[in-house]
Amino acid sequence: MSVKKTIEKRRAHRSLDPVEITRDLIEDLAETARITPSCANKQPWRFVFAYDKNMLNELFTVLSVGNKWVEKASMIIGVFSKPENDCIIGERLYYLFDTGMATAFLILRATELGLVAHPIAGFKETPAKEILGIPKNMRLIALIAVGKHSEVINPVLSDSMKLGEKQRPPRKSIDEFIHVNKVKEPIN
Ligand SMILES: Cc1cc2nc3c(=O)[nH]c(=O)nc-3n(C[C@H](O)[C@H](O)[C@H](O)COP(=O)(O)O)c2cc1C
Repeated sequence: MSVKKTIEKRRAHRSLDPVEITRDLIEDLAETARITPSCANKQPWRFVFAYDKNMLNELFTVLSVGNKWVEKASMIIGVFSKPENDCIIGERLYYLFDTGMATAFLILRATELGLVAHPIAGFKETPAKEILGIPKNMRLIALIAVGKHSEVINPVLSDSMKLGEKQRPPRKSIDEFIHVNKVKEPIN
């Protein structure tokens, strides 16, 4: 699948069917993160792949109310790092940028393999870190819910989430976020 097609195919679906998680799958996803570019090749990203049923059940207790759909995930990937793992140039901290790129590559590979890999920010960070064994001085940036897309819409979804299963939520027009040659006012 071309990169463009994979990017277009990727969706943050919330109706999930189970998928078998193997060591090969984990290594395949990790390999795409491994070769991601990073500032001075610092490779700040860290991932914890949780698929043990007891671990998943513990993680389900730290999700925000609207994220009940995650309980159908077969694996949750914890994405974590800390500022000192990457370039700090004045006030510019690159760890979130580079970890985000690695995560995007991993999500696209999962998409290419026919999986849903849905990033979420709706979780309690401190207990989630404790469950996953992530050190206190690191940030748990996101969790990625992994499963297979189910055609049967998960009944726990809100109406807008149900709509989101059928069509991609609207995006800004290109003119709202690009500038050519020089940024023009007004800008936010
Ligand atoms: C950093 C981040 C955090 C997100 N957090 C949540 C979340 O907590 N719960 C949820 O249902 N979706 C979450 N999403 C998914 C977005 O809502 C989704 O990507 C957006 O609506 C666009 O839909 P699309 O990805 O299918 O194009 C998150 C996405 C990102 C990138």
